[in-house]
Amino acid sequence: MARKKIGLIGAGNIGGELANLALSRQLGDVVLFDIPAKESFAKGKALDLEQATALSGADGRVTGTSRWEDVAGADVLIITAGIPRKPGQSRDDLVATNLPIIRDVADSAKKHCPNAFVIVISNPLDAMVYEYKRRTGASRQKVVGMAGVLDSARFSLFLAHEAGVSIKDVKTMVLGGHGDDMVPVLSHCTINGVPVQKLVAKDALTKIIDRTRKGGGEIVTLMGTSAYYAPAISAIAMAEAYLLDQKRLLPCAAYLEGEYGYKDLYMGVPTVIGAGGVEKIIEIDLNVEEQAMLKKSADSVQKVVDIVKAGA
Ligand SMILES: NC(=O)c1ccc[n+]([C@@H]2O[C@H](COP(=O)([O-])OP(=O)(O)OC[C@H]3O[C@@H](n4cnc5c(N)ncnc54)[C@H](O)[C@@H]3O)[C@@H](O)[C@H]2O)c1
Repeated sequence: MARKKIGLIGAGNIGGELANLALSRQLGDVVLFDIPAKESFAKGKALDLEQATALSGADGRVTGTSRWEDVAGADVLIITAGIPRKPGQSRDDLVATNLPIIRDVADSAKKHCPNAFVIVISNPLDAMVYEYKRRTGASRQKVVGMAGVLDSARFSLFLAHEAGVSIKDVKTMVLGGHGDDMVPVLSHCTINGVPVQKLVAKDALTKIIDRTRKGGGEIVTLMGTSAYYAPAISAIAMAEAYLLDQKRLLPCAAYLEGEYGYKDLYMGVPTVIGAGGVEKIIEIDLNVEEQAMLKKSADSVQKVVDIVKAGA
């Protein structure tokens, strides 16, 4: 079977780490795409990564380009095009800059990669993935946003530290929009089946939830730009689930058509990702408090989506 083709749209910090992971896991040949002004940078990054295969032994090509023709026919597209946050900025502050960029990407992707499974990462995430789907008219099975896997990873890590247990045993689910009112669904968070509340005291849990919600901002303050290692491996987990038909249950931003009581909105919900893309959206039982938090989060997402629609 021919190798799969993975188009990475944006060859910046996340794009580079995505390429590294895709290559080391031998998911396919990688095309690192960026704007013409960054083409030589993309080519240089690609060459550096390919040279590393002499030692890692990974089979796979990496090429850098600013021509969509080189991305044509990609099986998977992962989109990081746009600018990241700077200290003091919220994700929603990026909408004016990143909206024309996602539209530009959507138009080219529709033309050159009509059958790709598309994972959007660019912020503000829920609004950017909404706009990508609206602009391309692609099915909801084929267009998904990455946020919940990352937010859940952050939540899991802080819980593992607090409980003094292996990160491997912490199973969490953070749903809703990728903003400061995201929803850690405690009723479905366990340490290998043991409810987290058994192992983590209430006040510690409250602090951890707050830290998770501000987890992206914590890194922006420390580094002056946004995180890239954990975001990249989160998106790779989703791409791998699709390419290897793993049917993984992952919290992803999916297009809702009535699930959880929401319509015409992208928001983080439990999904099953396999060869059919987003094969299922799972509706779990949320308690009254969680439902209220989800409503607040959905309202925040809707406000940014309304800005996007107004700029149609
Ligand atoms: N969803 C999440 O959980 C999550 C997490 C972290 C970061 N992000 C977001 O991901 C995005 C990328 O972050 P980064 O750290 O890789 O940024 P970066 O600045 O390092 O890279 C972004 C790249 O996009 C390129 N680009 C701009 N316009 C383009 C276009 N039209 N076509 C192709 N490429 C284009 C830029 O030239 C740049 O190289 C940001 O919007 C950031 O806020 C999302």
